[in-house]
Amino acid sequence: MNNKPIPVILDGDPGHDDAIGWVIAGACDRLKVLGCTAVNGNCSVNKAAYNAQRVCALINLDVPIAKGQRKPLFIEPIKAPSNIHGESGLDGPVLPEPKRELEEETAVELMARLLNESDEKVTIVATGPLTNVAALLITHPEVKDKIEQISIMGGGILYGNWTPAAEFNILVDPDAADIVFKSGLPIYMAGLDVTEKALVLPEDVELIRSIGNPVSDIVSEWLEFFYIFHKSIGYEGAPLHDPCAIMVLIHPEIFDIRDYYVEVETSGEYTKGCTVADVYNVTGKKSNAKCLMGVDRKKFIELMADYIRNYSEVK
Ligand code: RIB
Ligand code: CA
Repeated sequence: MNNKPIPVILDGDPGHDDAIGWVIAGACDRLKVLGCTAVNGNCSVNKAAYNAQRVCALINLDVPIAKGQRKPLFIEPIKAPSNIHGESGLDGPVLPEPKRELEEETAVELMARLLNESDEKVTIVATGPLTNVAALLITHPEVKDKIEQISIMGGGILYGNWTPAAEFNILVDPDAADIVFKSGLPIYMAGLDVTEKALVLPEDVELIRSIGNPVSDIVSEWLEFFYIFHKSIGYEGAPLHDPCAIMVLIHPEIFDIRDYYVEVETSGEYTKGCTVADVYNVTGKKSNAKCLMGVDRKKFIELMADYIRNYSEVK
């Protein structure tokens, strides 16, 4: 078994759950984070970039961080309501100020540089709208063969969370998602089918809080913030959407993963942004995505806690 760490680029719209996914990635020695890129989604790309800097400062992740596209490829951005992640996009505990300036490069330029410079193929973990990733594939086709796979949080085979048919990340930029799903690159799709089973319950928040290091203190407050909002709209717990896209890379065994052919609806009046999975293979088309459909929730929480404990050694 190859014990070399998996090189990854983290692209997201932090966002509480993006931030927790990045905390896990930063603590796992089987992943080597090459860089982080911010995308418009939960909040403006400016806020997402600032939050990316602060999350990296919190976990002492000294990697290049770049700001991505201000808006989706072809359509106007959806303004995410501030009640989910707060006005800053990452409300709740006070976070450290950035320890590293943003790169002059755009997110796409940074991604292309990191891919070119890497000796090995790189995994892109995209936990926001896919605007940056699609823009990379369009403007830098020469780096496509340096991409090992794309692990996304996005979509939902059975239902949406922003419209009945569409999940937020896909709906914000369905054209970008369409480009990614048609790219031919291996895709892990952590859609709502799995992420809404990766629920954090109050006792799990206390488990994280009991770790008692500077990172667990912040993560438990993020979880509490996220839980309060989701409880208010009828959830039993906080769905840890984005960490699923990280956890599947390091612990695929805790997930129920199905190979499906998935297409993205880019224009339907009721279905725009829907990830349409051919569950019964009626098209006869070859699968283009490994879709996460279930998770061992308790194991997921235990593993998250174990990774966060690793920050206890942070000097
Ligand atoms: O629908 C859930 C997704 O939207 C998550 O990535 C969350 O961070 C928001 O971006
Ligand atoms: Ca996100």
